Amino acid sequence: MKNERPYIILSAAMTIDGKIASKVGDPDLSDNSDWREVHKLRKKVDAILVGKGTIIKDNPKLHIKYYEHKGYYRVILDSNLTIPIDSQVVTYKPEIYTTIICTKEDISEDRVKKFEEKGVTVIKAGKKERVDLLKVMSILKTKGINSIILEGGGTLNWSFIKNDLVDEIRLTIAPWIIGGVDAISLVEGEGFKKMIDGKRFDLINVEQRNNYVTLNYKRKI
Ligand SMILES: NC(=O)c1ccc[n+]([C@@H]2O[C@H](COP(=O)([O-])OP(=O)(O)OC[C@H]3O[C@@H](n4cnc5c(N)ncnc54)[C@H](OP(=O)(O)O)[C@@H]3O)[C@@H](O)[C@H]2O)c1
Repeated sequence: MKNERPYIILSAAMTIDGKIASKVGDPDLSDNSDWREVHKLRKKVDAILVGKGTIIKDNPKLHIKYYEHKGYYRVILDSNLTIPIDSQVVTYKPEIYTTIICTKEDISEDRVKKFEEKGVTVIKAGKKERVDLLKVMSILKTKGINSIILEGGGTLNWSFIKNDLVDEIRLTIAPWIIGGVDAISLVEGEGFKKMIDGKRFDLINVEQRNNYVTLNYKRKI
């Protein structure tokens, strides 16, 4: 499977206590130097991929700032094509950033057409509750997407971890604690029962910038 799918780098910023947003959805974690590093990584990959939750809560542009670039694909996983049509991933500079929305196969053609009219490519994969990740990965690969930065959120991160689709992690730790059972963690989902079942990674780099630390991991083979 590995060569039939893109290389996937999970990238996130979290608090000391592992939260990637506050309980009311405040996502403001990174400092300026961290953002620059994230955008440097975005420039290197073929696509950025996020879940519907992140689009609805944050309405990000998912663009590349600070560096010259040729654009990349913005890929959204949205099983029922419910993100607002005026989301910034649809309206912001579609001539530079092609947006792909991945949905389930039984989605209404009318809804698909509305997005296609805005220049969005719609990929249909999966008949169950959610988009079929493995199918999506092989379709993206056939489109020439060889590398992806996965920017969550927590629900989508779990699906990627569960399916063993994360090759590398870039994780910045913001120097504060926010708490809250309702605050989204780096990885949500049902979780594994035993520590032995957890996906293991090798620590390959530690970088300290001011009061922040960025950790790089690679999937243990
Ligand atoms: N600090 C950071 O680095 C960072 C980065 C990114 C996001 N965030 C934060 O994360 C929060 C959003 O996280 P979230 O967990 O609510 O949402 P999410 O992970 O962004 O999106 C999850 C949604 O994606 C859809 N989806 C479609 N196919 C899926 C699949 N195979 N597996 C899993 N999900 C699939 C599901 O909705 P449907 O079934 O309806 O399609 C699911 O509810 C925001 O508050 C954002 O600020 C923080």
